[in-house]
Amino acid sequence: MEQELKTLREAALNELAKASDLDELNDLRVKYLGKKGSLTSVLRGMGGLSPEERPKIGQIVNDIRADLEGLLTARSEEFKQSALEKRLASEKIDVSLPGRRPNIGHKHPLTLTLDRIKSIFMRMGFDVAEGPEVESDYFNFEALNLPKDHPARDMQDSFYITPEILLRTHTSPVEARVMQSKKPNDPVRIIAPGKVYRCDYDATHSPVFQQVEGLVVDKGIKLSDLKGTLDLFAKEMFGSNVKLRFRPSFFPFTEPSAEVDISCVMCGGKGCRTCKDTGWLEILGSGMTHPGVLEMSGYDPNQVSGFAFGIGVERVAMLVYGIDDLRLFYDNDARFLAQF
Ligand code: FA5
Ligand code: MG
Repeated sequence: MEQELKTLREAALNELAKASDLDELNDLRVKYLGKKGSLTSVLRGMGGLSPEERPKIGQIVNDIRADLEGLLTARSEEFKQSALEKRLASEKIDVSLPGRRPNIGHKHPLTLTLDRIKSIFMRMGFDVAEGPEVESDYFNFEALNLPKDHPARDMQDSFYITPEILLRTHTSPVEARVMQSKKPNDPVRIIAPGKVYRCDYDATHSPVFQQVEGLVVDKGIKLSDLKGTLDLFAKEMFGSNVKLRFRPSFFPFTEPSAEVDISCVMCGGKGCRTCKDTGWLEILGSGMTHPGVLEMSGYDPNQVSGFAFGIGVERVAMLVYGIDDLRLFYDNDARFLAQF
């Protein structure tokens, strides 16, 4: 048996020395050391040995196993090392190649538009005010001259949370909030940008959209101040030859009221899907602050007067960029957004 083991050892060491890659090494590991390998079968034959011989043979088998394992490890290290050296020799880093540019994001077109609107009004001396998107019925409607049963509430189909709390349908509640935060009759000149919510959905109406409210209150504020301010805004925003249309309208919180349209940029005024064949696109509502609204917020309509407006940011962005469906702004399609 000793002789048999000696031959086995010689053969195994020999084959291991000749192996030329990791796969061959693995095969040899199975052949000699595996569960059905040669050494294991020798061990199985040990039952027939005498008690004196058993430990001696056992020792030899263990020595052989250790030798084979040592050689297997050494040779596989050798293969790994030479593979690495080969790769390092062939792989060259060309330091003169230009690097990969990381993708740099940019502002959303609605944010770009809002930034421009804000900057135009700030240059006219307006401050920026804010109010909550989850608003009380009182500020959203009542303080704006829209009591509970007022039919004009139907113009703004709303998302209610409780009968007294809703998602604001416009930024006008900020008007009352600002006046109520001031001393009565103190001058006000603010814009209030933010999100508003309505049950609306088509090419020019989104359920979530943005408005920029404006409110000016002081002694002797006139309709001509409103017209001049909006005219200057439109010319700064759309260019000096833009056509502006003041259309008589109704809001419970202004008297008189006007909606302002801009000539449709999609069709040049001829009529299309975007302007619903009218040639005009409404961008804002406005008017002279209703005396009752001033009064409810502690101001005296006999001493001060005011004007207000609410601009639709999406509508302005559509006109600025020539986009015929406002829902594109909210689809998050990178192919669309990458164009700005
Ligand atoms: C109002 O919301 C009034 N609060 C505006 C106002 C303020 C009038 C101060 C007088 C004084 P209106 O519902 O018309 O008005 O909306 C104002 C603008 O928001 C519209 O001209 C339009 O540009 C935009 N708008 C309205 N509904 C939507 C919608 N669903 N999606 C996108 N833009 C909209
Ligand atoms: Mg309107």
